[in-house]
Amino acid sequence: CKDVGILAMDMYFPPTCVQQEALEVHDGASKGKYTIGLGQDCMAFCSEVEDVISMSLTVVKSLLEKYHIDPKLIGRLEVGSETVIDKSKSIKTWLMQNFEESGNTDIEGVDSSNACYGGTAALLNCVNWVESRCWDGRYGLVVCTDSAVYAEGPARPTGGAAAIAMLIGPNAPISFESKYRASHMAHVYDFYKPDLASEYPVVDGKLSQTCYLMALDSCYRQYCAKYEKLVGEQFSISDADYCVFHSPYNKLVQKSFARLYFNDFMRNCSSVDNDAKEKLQPFANLTSEESYQSRDLEKGSQQLAKHLYDIKVQPSTLLPKQIGNMYTASLYAALASVIYNKHASLTGQRIVMFSYGSGLTSTMFSFKLNEGQHPFNLANIASVLDVTAKLESRHVTSPEKFIDTLKLMEHRYGAKDFETSKDISLLPPGTFYLTKVDSMYRRFYEKK
Ligand code: ACO
Repeated sequence: CKDVGILAMDMYFPPTCVQQEALEVHDGASKGKYTIGLGQDCMAFCSEVEDVISMSLTVVKSLLEKYHIDPKLIGRLEVGSETVIDKSKSIKTWLMQNFEESGNTDIEGVDSSNACYGGTAALLNCVNWVESRCWDGRYGLVVCTDSAVYAEGPARPTGGAAAIAMLIGPNAPISFESKYRASHMAHVYDFYKPDLASEYPVVDGKLSQTCYLMALDSCYRQYCAKYEKLVGEQFSISDADYCVFHSPYNKLVQKSFARLYFNDFMRNCSSVDNDAKEKLQPFANLTSEESYQSRDLEKGSQQLAKHLYDIKVQPSTLLPKQIGNMYTASLYAALASVIYNKHASLTGQRIVMFSYGSGLTSTMFSFKLNEGQHPFNLANIASVLDVTAKLESRHVTSPEKFIDTLKLMEHRYGAKDFETSKDISLLPPGTFYLTKVDSMYRRFYEKK
């Protein structure tokens, strides 16, 4: 079948957030460290009545309703998440409640997990299924859901929370260019969650940045090679209308785009003008290891690529800057930002995507945008996403309240036999929320 890809999208994020500027003051960080240094504006977090299960229940229900999808028409459901609530029972099984009601229990798929990459694994599985001989003509549904929380320290401002749902099928407005997929997978300890009693990761921040950039280089090189072999022409960032990156924090996205620009320079692409070539020449003989450590190269290439960053990357940064790292949902929230901001001019354009999950797993792939047919068209997806209204209706809490919530959640993590406050005053109608966890660790949710 033709043009397999994303037919529809919806997104949910908690209505509670904390301003990075206020967090800087609270943490005693220097002014501008989180807002300019990390490039973040605001951070969403789950209050004690929300978690990755409630967010995913909300977003799936909402997608089915807003696009008028009969639950019987879903044949595969895959979830990407790295937030562990249960070591055996998948989040996917929770979502089956939406389908059992309509008598549809014939739905393949479970959860995929490897740091922020699980959503991409889930997406590729669904696309592969639709393109396979097992496909029965029904839709795939991918859900990315995560709550990113860090222990006190420099990583704490890089948290966030959200869930995204994507409907997969043929004749999609956001269709995969399957032939140019390139991955880089390796074994490293940059960010991991070995302590099963804690929700917080163990993280080597600097190493994770370098691993991310190394994986990006490797994927880009292979992506270009595959493109060049099939098309017979050199690929450069000029061939991408938008570059969308996994976004742990915006500064890393700025560095990533600059890195692609440096790659183009090293491959002597016409995307790099003569003036920039001259300025980058002093770095041409660095070993790749040296190139990751060079501050001058980092800053210089960021400056030289800035005019292209503003056009090709900036439209993707809206939601990640406002919500923070959503782990598996981050990359797709960045994609949603492009669709929301640029839907009227996307037809025929190419979006290059880079997915990274620590540990590490990474893939670069691309979409070709088509007009699509109602309800599966770009304008309708943008209207369902309704980003501005959702962002503007959020409730800004104080850093103290945010820290109090994290402390409470530290006690609740892995606990049993408790009831939540059931304070749902801030939740929009239709939102699922946690009411209690019983003595058998069974969780109970209700819908507002
Ligand atoms: N004004 C402006 N900029 C400032 C200021 C200031 N007052 N103070 C510091 N900065 C800049 C720094 O120069 C630096 O920017 P640069 O890299 O462009 O030079 C930036 O702010 C960060 O400051 P650092 O001191 O380098 O780093 P810090 O110790 O604060 O840690 C880190 C940042 C490593 C990102 C940390 O937040 C972290 O570990 N986060 C989680 C790990 C992560 O997200 N890794 C990414 C890939 S893995 C994943 O997706 C989970």
